[in-house]
Amino acid sequence: MKYFPSIAISVLLVGLGLGIAGFGTLGLQGKMSRKPPTELFPDMDRQAKLRPQEPNHFFASGVSSQLPPSGTIARGEPIQTVNGAVYRFEDSPVNTGHLAGSTNFVENNPLPMSEALLQRGHDRFDIYCAPCHGKIGDGNGITKKLAVMPTVANLHDARIVKMTDGEIFNTVTFGKSTMGAVGPLIQAEDRWAVIAYLRALQLSRLGTLEDLTAEQKAALKK
Ligand code: HEC
Repeated sequence: MKYFPSIAISVLLVGLGLGIAGFGTLGLQGKMSRKPPTELFPDMDRQAKLRPQEPNHFFASGVSSQLPPSGTIARGEPIQTVNGAVYRFEDSPVNTGHLAGSTNFVENNPLPMSEALLQRGHDRFDIYCAPCHGKIGDGNGITKKLAVMPTVANLHDARIVKMTDGEIFNTVTFGKSTMGAVGPLIQAEDRWAVIAYLRALQLSRLGTLEDLTAEQKAALKK
């Protein structure tokens, strides 16, 4: 009698298993039955939803399918940006980081370099990159100090300095291994602004005495 409870539980479990597998009330697979099937997991077989083109009295138009709101831009439509430039949404290096019609990354930032672009990049970098990469991009941001992210890339690594702007754009847009995607947070032009600023940060560490003008060198010696 000592084993009775465990034997009883086993029998119950086997019975339940067979039941789920298709015996009992469910009927064997392939067998016809007039009874409605027992649904153990109805999933989303039946749901309250509107089928396309059905009459529907909820909307003023009386149909379930609605037109896109005014101002909606089709994916293939050219986009007019704040600075007046117009480019197609897809297949434009500004949006993809690739040369148009190719999978190769663009070598250089497709946006024209300007002081305003760098300033915008500085601003966005400090908000969206500095928490992890640090204000100077050396990978010593607050997330490292708090030990939330123990290994953050140093953006001054020769490997990253040598990367094309398009590849960095790709990393920023979609993320890479432990770095999440920043693309959904900031629009493409701001990502390019960040990259322009990142290049300035990298250059600030790569500069040599030879980059200075004679006057600047003289000023240094004082
Ligand atoms: C939440 C933290 C976090 C933020 C925010 C973040 N990064 Fe990163 N980033 C990382 C980590 C961690 C790595 C290292 C990923 C790895 O290789 O494991 C990395 C790697 C990189 C790399 C090197 C990728 C490679 O190919 O090895 C680049 C370039 C980069 N980040 C740029 C940026 C820029 C620019 C921003 C701001 C727009 C940014 N990151 C924002 C955490 C972050």
